[in-house]
Order: sequence, then C-alpha cells, then structure tokens
Amino acid sequence: PANELILAVETSCDETSVAVIRGGKEILSNVISSQIETHRRFGGVVPEIASRKHVESITIIMEQALAEAGVAFRDLSAIAVTQGPGLVGALLVGIVAAKGLAMALGLPLIGTHHIAGHIYANELVHEMIYPCLALVASGGHTELVLLESEGKFRIIGRTRDDAVGEAYDKVARTLHFPYPGGPHIDRLAQEAEEEIVLPRAWLEPDSYDFSFSGLKSAVLASINTAAMKGETIRQAALARGFQASVIDVLTTKALRAAREFGVKQLLLCGGVAANGGLRAELTARCADAGIPLLVPPLRLCTDNAAMIGAAAHLKWTRGEFTPLDMKAEPGLSL
Ligand code: KG4
Ligand code: ZN
Repeated sequence: PANELILAVETSCDETSVAVIRGGKEILSNVISSQIETHRRFGGVVPEIASRKHVESITIIMEQALAEAGVAFRDLSAIAVTQGPGLVGALLVGIVAAKGLAMALGLPLIGTHHIAGHIYANELVHEMIYPCLALVASGGHTELVLLESEGKFRIIGRTRDDAVGEAYDKVARTLHFPYPGGPHIDRLAQEAEEEIVLPRAWLEPDSYDFSFSGLKSAVLASINTAAMKGETIRQAALARGFQASVIDVLTTKALRAAREFGVKQLLLCGGVAANGGLRAELTARCADAGIPLLVPPLRLCTDNAAMIGAAAHLKWTRGEFTPLDMKAEPGLSL
C-alpha cells in the first residue's frame, strides 16, 4: 500500500487549514484556524476579509501542521490543495501557497475538489464500499452524490436555491441568533414542546433535487403574521417545524435514492452533519432499510484540510497530478 506523505491545504471559505496525511488514511496533523469570530459581526462570511485572513495565517498554519506531524519539507511526497468550488480570493491564497511549495520542493501538485474532500473524509475513519451514496449538507452545498466506483461521482440531486446550512443560518438570523445559526436552531428545535407544522418542498415526484427558500419564507411569514397580530413569536415551535421539514425531505430523498441505486452505504458529510435531529433520523431510517450509515467525526465534517488530503490520495495512487498553471475554479464541478 502507498505510504506517501501529502501536505494538504484548504482555504475555500472561512477556515484556513493545513494537514499532513500518510497513505490517505493516517492523519499526522490537521490544523484548522477558523475566522468565524471575525465574520460574525457581519452576519456571514465577507469574501474580501476571508482572503486577507487566509494570507495572514497560511504560513503559520503550515508550519504548525508540519511541526505537529513531526515532518520536514523534504519528507513530503506531494502537495494537495482545494481548487474549487469556493470563494475565488480565498481559494487563491491556498493555491498560490501550494504551487509555491510544489515548485520549490519539486513535488507534484494535486488540485482537489472541495466536495470530493467532504465525501472522502469518510476514508479517514471507515472503509468506503461502492456503490455508495453521499448526502453532502453544508453552508455552501446540498447534494446527493452517487459514487458508482472510486472517484466516479454522479450528482443525482442538488439544491435549486439555498444550501441547507444557509437556510438554517438565514432562519437563525431572523430570530436574532449570531452567525452561524445552525446549532442554535438545532438546540431550540430539540427543546421545543410544540411544533408549527411547515410545508415540505418535495418538488417533482421523481426528483432528487432540494429547495429550501420556500421553507425559509414560510418561517418569515409566520413571524410577520405573529408580529402584526401583536402575538409573541413562538421561536422554539418554529425552529422545530423548520427542522422537521428539512430533515423529512433530506432523509426521505436520501433513502429513496439509496434504494433505487442499490447502494451499500450512505455517507453523511458537511457541517450540517452536526445536526442532532438529522443524525438521529438518518440513523433510524437507515437501520430500518438495512443500509449502513457512515458519519465522520464532527471535526472531519466541517471544512478541514485532512479531507482534502484523503481525496488527493486517490489521485496520487492513480498518478493524476495537476499542472502548475492551474487556476482557482470557484464553480468547479465534480
Ligand atoms: O461544512 P461547513 O463547516 O462549511 C461549509 O462548507 O459551508 O458547514 C457550516 C454550516 C453552517 O451553515 C452552519 O450553520 C451549519 O453548517 N451547521 C448546522 C449545525 N452545525 C453547523 N446546521 C444545523 N444544525 C447544526 N447542529
Ligand atoms: Zn465545505
């Protein structure tokens, strides 16, 4: 088996992260510096500030990742970096750093897709068995990805408007919770004693696509109506209704796809995998259907460079390297 040392860099959004991965499986280090505190007062990620923060921290994080791994530059086999999708200025910082290193050390460069990273985070803790289906749910993505074999991705469903984490954050913002609001809504929903039932966006009967903007508007409408009537806003009941709708649609579509494509595993990836309700419902429905559910530990679900190293490992074994003149691709497709 390959025992190569990959230094991986992730700067696609608001986490500056560098990891050292051995043989695609062993995490020697995975340093993550979050900018959340900086962006919080703006209620979301400000792209220009994100780029500057990455510039400030990238070399420090890189040195820390090497030191924690007990590895020197000369020990490395390849440099991996997120090529896209993401914020172009943020991506560029990681890419320029990775290219510089690859060039100076004479090492191959491996450009990696961010979603492939979220999916292959699973390889760091489990053995992926094909065909499998990944439900990728984060602040930037909501996708159902079918993997017929290793490295072969087919997006069978995606959001037509907001990503699920984005919808959580927007609803949280209307209820005056700080960014990122997902965890607040999750907690509120689980504490609620009542539920305001909200609509489910099933879309066309055979569609695996998602839509969350209508649901978000339903929450807003409910708040406005209450305010107009001078009634108190039932925050917890609304949060529970919102969460129930999101979870029902996500799990129903994921399980239907899992059955249709006869997958051997279902993978839950991305920051929204932190949602207690979603994990519980998927666990229950997968148990009923006899489909093993894989969920990486939380630290590997949110943006991190170890997952980029795991995805890059597959390209390494196939000798798929990326030319040094590659560009940041904010809209890169899988
Ligand atoms: O994967 P991630 O760290 O960053 C992106 O690539 O987007 O995901 C962050 C998203 C945010 O929208 C955050 O509100 C959401 O994940 N999130 C949650 C929970 N924890 C984080 N959403 C719902 N319930 C949670 N417990
Ligand atoms: Zn992500």
